[in-house]
Amino acid sequence: MNRFMPKRTIHKRIGAEKEKNMEYILYEAKDAVGIITINREKALNALNSQVLDELNETLDQVDLDTIRCLILTGAGQKSFVAGADIGEMSTLTKAEGEAFGKKGNDVFRKLETFPIPVIAAVNGFALGGGCEISMSCDIRICSDNAVFGQPEVGLGITPGFGGTQRLARLVGAGMAKQMIYTARNIKADEALRIGLVNAVYPQEELMAQAEKMAGTIAKNAPIAVRNCKKAINEGLDADMDEAIVIEEKLFGDCFETEDQKYGMAFFLDKNKEKVKEPFQNK
Ligand code: CAA
Repeated sequence: MNRFMPKRTIHKRIGAEKEKNMEYILYEAKDAVGIITINREKALNALNSQVLDELNETLDQVDLDTIRCLILTGAGQKSFVAGADIGEMSTLTKAEGEAFGKKGNDVFRKLETFPIPVIAAVNGFALGGGCEISMSCDIRICSDNAVFGQPEVGLGITPGFGGTQRLARLVGAGMAKQMIYTARNIKADEALRIGLVNAVYPQEELMAQAEKMAGTIAKNAPIAVRNCKKAINEGLDADMDEAIVIEEKLFGDCFETEDQKYGMAFFLDKNKEKVKEPFQNK
């Protein structure tokens, strides 16, 4: 296990390389699984600009040669992420509001299009920006005390980090509109019923379950997994004729990999004593 605090490099433009540990993000690499923890427990892991910047930098630092799946979670037992920081937003002008929305959207889009899968382990409140960041991940699982919602209209704003778009795509426009217009929070069992999460676990089992799923993903051929993510994401934004071509191309690309040659040769080899080697990511 390799636990470390990602470094934050500041003053990049003037070349005076000063490094500072991140304040609000923890990163831990466990074999081929990277665990990112939003660590601002006193504010229920609310997303201020600094958290968003540090998350952005952490994603840039993930070693894609060794890490094959990420888990995103929040510090503590109570909250995954309780939204964008209301204190920071309270005095924004129109232009600043738009810029803050863009800052969140840019990092969430980076997460959504990150080359390897990301599992959100939602360990409590996932409200506003918290629900939105979970929806930027490939897969959501949650603890039994999780609460999801888009409470923004109760604060006088719309969801601003992709909620109007991703919630409608995930649970359908009717349910998304109901959740967003009413600002009603839903508990884990309802989130499961409407397809917002894939599974609910007792709080104490959540991370073990997330790591188990990530470990299973990490054992599969990494380039094939990445291509699946790309095909699903890009295909969802295309019509079926284009989407099928996207899949054909990514399917074809796999035949240039050593992992495809090894995986198929292993299947065809009738020697029952053989042991499957890890895929090489080549
Ligand atoms: N922003 C800033 N601070 C927050 C926060 C947020 N989104 N959510 C919680 N906190 C802070 C509280 O202010 C409080 O700080 P202090 O101890 O300094 O007073 C601390 O976290 C603990 O919170 P509470 O005392 O409120 O805890 P609680 O158990 O009574 O309630 C809660 C928990 C129901 C999650 C409640 O904190 C809450 O409703 N939070 C706000 C949720 C919300 O509206 N999120 C959406 C934000 S808007 C958004 O995200 C826009 C977007 O799309 C980009």
